[in-house]
Parts: sequence; C-alpha cells; structure tokens
Amino acid sequence: MAEIVLKDIHKYYGTQHVLKGVSFEIYEDTVTGLIGKNGAGKTTLFKIISGAEGFEKGELMMARGRRVGVLDQIPEYAPGTTVYKVLDSAFSEVYELRDKLRELSQKMAVDNSPQVMKQYGEILQEYEARGGYTIETSIRKVCNGLGIDKEMQERKFSDLSGGEKTRVNLARIILADADILLLDEPTNHLDINAVEWLEEYLASFGGTVIVISHDRYFLDRITERIIEIEDGQAYTYEGNYSKYALLKEQRKIEQLKHYEQEQKKIKQLEAAVKRMHDWARRADNPKLHKRAFSMEKRLERMQKNATPRPRTERKLSKAFRTDDFTGTEVLSIKGIKKSFEGRVILDDINLLVRNGDRVALLGNNGAGKTTLLKIILGYLAPDAGMVKTGPSVKTAYLPQVVEFKEPELTILETIQRELKIDEGSARNLLAGFKFTGEDVFKAVGKLSGGEKSRLKLCLLMQKG
Ligand SMILES: Nc1ncnc2c1ncn2[C@@H]1O[C@H](COP(=O)(O)OP(=O)(O)OP(=O)(O)O)[C@@H](O)[C@H]1O
Ligand SMILES: [Mg+2]
Repeated sequence: MAEIVLKDIHKYYGTQHVLKGVSFEIYEDTVTGLIGKNGAGKTTLFKIISGAEGFEKGELMMARGRRVGVLDQIPEYAPGTTVYKVLDSAFSEVYELRDKLRELSQKMAVDNSPQVMKQYGEILQEYEARGGYTIETSIRKVCNGLGIDKEMQERKFSDLSGGEKTRVNLARIILADADILLLDEPTNHLDINAVEWLEEYLASFGGTVIVISHDRYFLDRITERIIEIEDGQAYTYEGNYSKYALLKEQRKIEQLKHYEQEQKKIKQLEAAVKRMHDWARRADNPKLHKRAFSMEKRLERMQKNATPRPRTERKLSKAFRTDDFTGTEVLSIKGIKKSFEGRVILDDINLLVRNGDRVALLGNNGAGKTTLLKIILGYLAPDAGMVKTGPSVKTAYLPQVVEFKEPELTILETIQRELKIDEGSARNLLAGFKFTGEDVFKAVGKLSGGEKSRLKLCLLMQKG
C-alpha cells in the first residue's frame, strides 16, 4: 500500500523554481534512497513531507495516523540543551499524555462519572502503548546500541563532535517510535561502527524509511528503490544503487541514440528546405516556395520538441594555489595533549608532514580529530606540546558544518568581499565551481548543505 503519495508538487523559494512537478509513491515498509545533486531539492522534499515547509501546487497524501521522525542534515537545539534532554524530547507527546492523566485523576476524585473514567482508560492505554512506563529503559537500550554513555548524556549537545551529534539525533528519532523515518544524510559524520549499527537497525526496523545519501555503498546495502531528483523532477528506479547506476547509463545511451537519429533527420530536413527554396527561386514558382515554408514549419516543430543531448556532468576543475610555497617541512606536531573537563582526548600526538604529503585522519566518533585540526589551526590551545608550521605555509580549513558570517549576503557579494575582486572575475571563478546564472544571487545562508561546502571550498582555494 502507498503510504506517502506526492502528485505534481511545485515549490518555489522566491523566484527559484526548485521542484517542478515532483510525483512519486512510497510504499509501506520499504527503504527508499533519495538522491540528486547538491541543491537538487532533497532536503526541501523532506521538509514538505514532514510539514515543516509548504508548497505552491500539487498534492501530498499520507496514510492516516502515521508518525514521522526526521533526522536533520544540520540539527539545532537551544544553547545549553543536554544530550539527555535531547533524548527525552522524543517523549514530549507521551509526557503530554501523562499530564492529561494527572488532570483526569484529579477530576475523578470529585467526579466519578463514566465518561471521565472511560476517557482515563483510553488515555492510559495509549500512554502504555507509547511506552510511558518504560521511558528510562528505552533510553538505556538505544543508548547502549549507539554508544551514548551516561557521561555523554550529561554533556551539552552543542559540545559534541559531529558524529556524536548524529548518533544522539538518531537515538532521539528511534525513541520517538516513528512509523516513517526521514533520514537526511545520516552517515555523513558516523564512524564505521555506527554506520554498521544503523544498517542493522534499518534492516530490522518494521516501518517505512526514506534516506538521503551521497554514499552509494550505504545505499546499495539498505535500499530497494532509488528516487532521483533531477531538474526539479523525480525519477524512480527499482532496485539498489548499483541497479540504478546501470539503468541510468542505459537510459543515457538510449537517449543519445535517439538524439543522434533526430539530429540527423533535422539536418536532412534543413538541407531539403534549402534546396526547395533554391528551386523555387530559380523556377520562380510560388507553389514550391509554399511547400518549402510548410516544411520549414515542420522543421521548427521538430527542433522545438527535440530530445536534449544527454549531459555529461562538468567536473570541478580547480586546484589549490601553491605558488609561494618553497619549504619542505609543512607541519610538525610534538607531544600534543588535550583534555576537556577532565576527559583526556589527545594524549601525546606526534606528526611530521612534508611538502606534498596527503594525510588522512581516521578515528571513531569523538576520538578528537576535529580537536586536533583546531589545535593545528591555533583555534584551540593544547594543554601540552607544540605545533610548528613551515614559514610560508598557508592553511585552509573546511569545517564539518559550513557557516557564513553574513548569511544574508549573496554568493556574488560574499566572493567579491572576501577576495576583493570585481564582478566579472567573481562570476568566472564561481562558474568553475558550478554556480552559474541566477545562482550567484542566492543568499549564502539559504544554500543547501552541499552548496555551502562547495562555496567555502571555492573561497579556500583562492585565498590559499
Ligand atoms: N529557505 C530557503 N530559502 C531560499 N532558498 C532555499 C531555501 N532552502 C533551500 N533553498 C534552495 O533550494 C535549493 C534546494 O535546496 P535543498 O536544501 O533542498 O537541496 P539538497 O538537494 O538537499 O542539497 P544537498 O545535497 O546539498 O543537501 C537550493 O538551491 C537551495 O539554495
Ligand atoms: Mg540537503
């Protein structure tokens, strides 16, 4: 049975027509992968399905009484919120039921009419069904699975590492006991253990899942259908990611064949029209001219309805500037130690990086990878040890979650201000990073997650 149905959904942000008639059906108890380029409208679709955003045209239908749980791409909570509070917020509806029960029991003390008793009984049943008596046990169970220990539960959510935040949020929506899970890039910051746990969880989860991901291996393991958002529309493919890639390639080859055949016909017709006009002129024959004109009309129609040439994606083709660098020793780290509130995060880290080295920093969620980067950059002071960078070394830092100081500035303004260049150069540069046409007038604060990273990368590569 279809649980979620979207029919011809149109969505605008200002003048940007993001979704141009999206239609698809999601069947009960299936796992669907939602894919598409950065800025295609995937997160927007989640917001529409969960009711956080409206839309201009079309229909959205959802099976009755379903609870939707959303894992946001970039989650936010009020400052100071502890991890336990975040987890506990999964039960806000259950707490409402509890309050109602209290109210009713007070009422029953003075009025034991059958209606009140009946209402009490019904709510009590729901309270029990929603796990009202087992909240703490549930929290403990899920936290065990996701490696969220007691100590972490008392920490502030905002202090957590990227992967720890994702884990806590996953725990929260699992605890909320939703029927439909909307997961927006859940594996982004997760370490291998947590990804494996999530895969197992999804395999045993009885409900419906839609997951946005750019991780094809993850998608391959968990999805049975793929929906791709492309040019504002949705295309459904049965099967996992590999199957999708195959079908898509086939479609592209067919489209190319079709395109080439059509173009050949158009060329033939063009030549025929020219010939006909030529004859008509030479023979001064108005009838022939008329025929040529009607052929021309046919040609125009064909050109208008022609299959577009299948596109090959332009790759980002920029490189970091390394012009002024001459040294050999880029970075040397000796005996770095760092603790947070008595917790030892880094204990005696040593590293030497030479010119041309490419170093990957691996480790479990919360191991201290970002902390080490921040120490290297000088954003954080180590408790012991030292960091030395070569004399002409310039650093560029792309954080896990990209933010801009002035979110209301447009892409173009941001680039021009930061790099102090004229509009023409800024536009040229941006085109190399796939921001073209009207794109450059979007406010940077409104960009999708991937678009923000791309823009930041553009700035970093230029500043060096
Ligand atoms: N609140 C908003 N106001 C204006 N434009 C927006 C807003 N939210 C999103 N957009 C724009 O709508 C488009 C779709 O954004 P969306 O976040 O849905 O993309 P996405 O497919 O999730 O991309 P990503 O893979 O980068 O997460 C983008 O071009 C984005 O800049
Ligand atoms: Mg997104």
